[in-house]
Amino acid sequence: MAAVMTATRRDVNTKIGTELEGVTLLDLDQAGVDELKELVAERGVLFFRDQEMTLAQQVELGGRLGELHIHPAAKAPEGFPEVLLVHTDAESAYTAGNGWHTDVSCDERPPALSMLRLEQTPPSGGDTVWASMYEAYDTLSTSMQDYLCTLTAVHAGDKAYRGRYGYTGDREFPVSEHPVVRTHPVSGRKGLYVNMGFTSHIKGLRARESQALLDMLYDHIAYGINFQVRFQWEPNSVAIWDNRCVQHHASWDYFPETRHGYRVTTRGEVPFQ
Ligand code: SIN
Repeated sequence: MAAVMTATRRDVNTKIGTELEGVTLLDLDQAGVDELKELVAERGVLFFRDQEMTLAQQVELGGRLGELHIHPAAKAPEGFPEVLLVHTDAESAYTAGNGWHTDVSCDERPPALSMLRLEQTPPSGGDTVWASMYEAYDTLSTSMQDYLCTLTAVHAGDKAYRGRYGYTGDREFPVSEHPVVRTHPVSGRKGLYVNMGFTSHIKGLRARESQALLDMLYDHIAYGINFQVRFQWEPNSVAIWDNRCVQHHASWDYFPETRHGYRVTTRGEVPFQ
């Protein structure tokens, strides 16, 4: 039997987030990796402790989760174009992911899974919080759900990346249109797919209408503590999340301490309703 089925599974709450004990990710066979993909589509984010691995091993494991994504803005570590360095220290002017977002939703085929492994954690703080977009959608009124299902949003890389990753005004970032509500290709559930990091506006609405509607949805997500989960990292912790059904927010409450790790991400499909 593949290793995920035999692991000790602890759902952190009923809506989102599961910690798996007794799994060594590098030892999973492809059947185990496939189970993991099914489970993350249901639970949104999976947590693992004590997963020591090299960058090359993380890339290899990521490649078994799916076709790897290349970040459109960040400079990758030498020799690892598919890796996003997640590093913050006393010299940092900002930290990646310090706001609610879905990874790189400006891409035409935005990310499916992200796998983040931290090697160094601050003495305290540096948690990440995830929110279920299934639940964010399900807890809206039927009238609002029906209306949102008629809408398309524009996601602009410029909104998230301008002034970051060494940007000097000389680059163009992806811009894509996606349905405001998308159906997850594995679970078949509907989820909200707009986020503060990348969504510039909703098509066909006046600017004030678009901003008011987006602000209402962002408040709904940020206040939605019944469908959020918070993870306290340790060195060699790994989180794998499904960007098609969650948003996340990294907290930067540890300045000037250092937090360091690496993310690999798989390409998803063109979002559909
Ligand atoms: C990210 O947005 O992928 C970074 C998340 C984190 O650093 O916790």
